[in-house]
Amino acid sequence: MPLDLDPGTAALGNARLVRAIADEMAGAAMPFERFMELALYHPEFGYYRRRGRIGPQGDFLTSPVIHPMFGWAVAAWCRDAWDRLGRPSPFTIFEPGAGEGALATSILDWAEGRTDGFREALRYVAIEPNAGGSDTRVEWVAGPVPPAAAGVAVCNELFDALPVRVFEAGERGPVEVGVRWDGERFVEARLGVVTIDDAPAAGRFEVNPHAYAAMQSLCSLVERGAVLAFDYGYPQDELWAPWRTNGTLLCFYRHTAHEDPYVHVGEQDITAHVNFSELASAAHEEGFEVHGPISQAQFLAAMGAGSLVEAARGDMAEYFARRSAYTTLTDTAGLGRVRVLAGARGLPGLPPGFEETP
Ligand SMILES: C[S@@+](CC[C@H](N)C(=O)[O-])C[C@H]1O[C@@H](n2cnc3c(N)ncnc32)[C@H](O)[C@@H]1O
Repeated sequence: MPLDLDPGTAALGNARLVRAIADEMAGAAMPFERFMELALYHPEFGYYRRRGRIGPQGDFLTSPVIHPMFGWAVAAWCRDAWDRLGRPSPFTIFEPGAGEGALATSILDWAEGRTDGFREALRYVAIEPNAGGSDTRVEWVAGPVPPAAAGVAVCNELFDALPVRVFEAGERGPVEVGVRWDGERFVEARLGVVTIDDAPAAGRFEVNPHAYAAMQSLCSLVERGAVLAFDYGYPQDELWAPWRTNGTLLCFYRHTAHEDPYVHVGEQDITAHVNFSELASAAHEEGFEVHGPISQAQFLAAMGAGSLVEAARGDMAEYFARRSAYTTLTDTAGLGRVRVLAGARGLPGLPPGFEETP
């Protein structure tokens, strides 16, 4: 006799997470922002609570895991700030959203090779509330930390992993998108009409309610020094351009990008592009002189990162690894279009890579 083999919630992702979200909904709709928060950061079953999400065996690649050369370039950038600050000791690099620490490790490895006192001055603090990493040279903290007198706060793909509110333009203004459980799957619902300055007149768009405060806390980490943020995004006029009618929400599952956040729940990443105008004004508000955003391709080229490829000519395996990594990191259809924003406070001169920017 055929049995009922319907997997039910198991087919939608992490079955316990699906049940926990449906239970919290209790028959009503919750804002998309809360759904995304639970899918990524539920205390037990959220996507980022487990290690191994980023990398060839995971769901997507970030610049630090492509090759250490990305971290070496960031390390050289931080060392330049240290130098221009008068070589203070300690000099702290903070990294919120450090993931498993690939960037931290490549920065620290690069610093190990310096004989100018940079390594001795360097303290590395990774602020990561989720799975975290294992490099013992790094101070791993899960929550707020006191600021440092001198240093750099750097982050890679932190802001695009923060939960967003989703809206659909309507005749009376933007309508917030909610999510409810229909007994078998998550479906969208319409919540109230809201007022948003300069909101798109048509289509879907996202608002990140956490980005401004997150940028302010990034800035508050260093009294004198710099911030350096890498993320997917655009200035507001491009992010909310009239032709972009479907927003920027993207999901990543086993290296496939798609637009359905209601499948693979808890087993896939959900991201939305960042409003760089907002990040710039948060940094400005904190007393930082803001540079960029420029593309990662521009940034790495201006920093001379291509020379790292040529420098490996004596080791053909490493030469090809670096050549391929450099192509990936600067590919303007991929990681090369990540934007880079820098801010400086009490730091004389222009940050490397941004000399050509207005
Ligand atoms: C897309 S991953 C990027 C990881 C790493 N930076 C990389 O490039 O491989 C985003 C990371 O941000 C972390 N995160 C999310 N919210 C955070 C917060 N409020 N403070 C610090 N980290 C946070 C997540 O746990 C996750 O590890």
